[in-house]
Amino acid sequence: MQVIAIVNEKGGTAKTTTTVNLAACLGESGQRVLVVDDFTVFIYFQF
Ligand SMILES: Nc1ncnc2c1ncn2[C@@H]1O[C@H](COP(=O)(O)OP(=O)(O)O)[C@@H](O)[C@H]1O
Ligand SMILES: [Mg+2]
Repeated sequence: MQVIAIVNEKGGTAKTTTTVNLAACLGESGQRVLVVDDFTVFIYFQF
């Protein structure tokens, strides 16, 4: 299992945008992907 962390202390720096699009690309390429975003209430997406 590979873990990719997209981190920046500042808000509004495209962390979520990058994460979701990267996950979508990996998912479309056939890999199983679990996304954990850093929103106030944790949101889990499974592709
Ligand atoms: N490459 C980009 N070009 C223009 N706007 C962008 C880009 N990436 C993200 N944004 C916009 O910037 C804002 C913050 O992005 P977001 O991914 O929610 O940041 P974060 O998760 O770091 O708080 C959103 O409105 C998003 O649509
Ligand atoms: Mg975010």
